[in-house]
Amino acid sequence: MSTETLEKNANHAATAPAYFEAYDVHAYYGESYIVQGVSFNVHEGEILALLGRNGAGKTSMLRTIARMDDPELRSGELRLDHVTLHDKRSHDAAQLGVGLVPETRSIIPGLTVEENIKLAQIAPPMGWSLDRIYDLFPRLGERRKQEGTTLSGGEQQMLAIGRALARDIKLLLLDEPYEGLAPVIVQEIEKTLHYIREQGMTTIIVEQNAVAALKLADRAIILETGKIVFDGSAKEVLDNVDLRHEYLAI
Ligand SMILES: Nc1ncnc2c1ncn2[C@@H]1O[C@H](COP(=O)(O)OP(=O)(O)OP(=O)(O)O)[C@@H](O)[C@H]1O
Ligand SMILES: [Mg+2]
Repeated sequence: MSTETLEKNANHAATAPAYFEAYDVHAYYGESYIVQGVSFNVHEGEILALLGRNGAGKTSMLRTIARMDDPELRSGELRLDHVTLHDKRSHDAAQLGVGLVPETRSIIPGLTVEENIKLAQIAPPMGWSLDRIYDLFPRLGERRKQEGTTLSGGEQQMLAIGRALARDIKLLLLDEPYEGLAPVIVQEIEKTLHYIREQGMTTIIVEQNAVAALKLADRAIILETGKIVFDGSAKEVLDNVDLRHEYLAI
């Protein structure tokens, strides 16, 4: 490593301590060993792209951070803003500021857009107000009385993100937010994620559309069968054809 790089890293470390940290995380579905000793950091206000081929363990890693019951975290440490998550259950992790937007979007059937958001705001501390969420996603405001499950795919993704922001979160976990969406809707959501980042949100984004995720992200890690094979800047991945071919098939 060049002296310049070392200095840059040292400066980065001095000014931006790890805000979220995963250290030597091992997680299983039953006897299936999926997350195999994963360590990485995310700094405050940073967007990290978590990439890798199908089945690499990306969703499993997000679910582990959110402390879902499966996969089961058997060893390792997770810390958000210096508070341990590895010894918590999912509702405590949510209370401590982990906001997972799952691939399924998890819109609650039978409830309107507004009721879906309000439900997220039941337990304090409150995050974004309804007005602020509708400012960010005017389509949600227009459809506030519509049943959430009848929204288009893109609108459901907006609702899922809006619901996460409605709670006072410190770490936003996005699992394939662009999946199945037309390019014009992807652009619309990209714009809102840029805005959310400007508000200082720390984010981990998982995406099959690696180029789109890398355009948004500051840093990237690549998972391959549950292990990290790359940890560096998003630009390094975009510029490195071999890396992209080998691990991302792009
Ligand atoms: N509930 C489960 N029980 C058993 N194995 C599972 C379960 N969920 C996922 N797996 C396995 O764990 C591995 C990692 O899956 P995961 O969903 O984390 O991958 P991924 O990187 O998110 O893939 P994709 O890009 O397809 O979404 C896969 O081999 C998958 O079959
Ligand atoms: Mg997945």
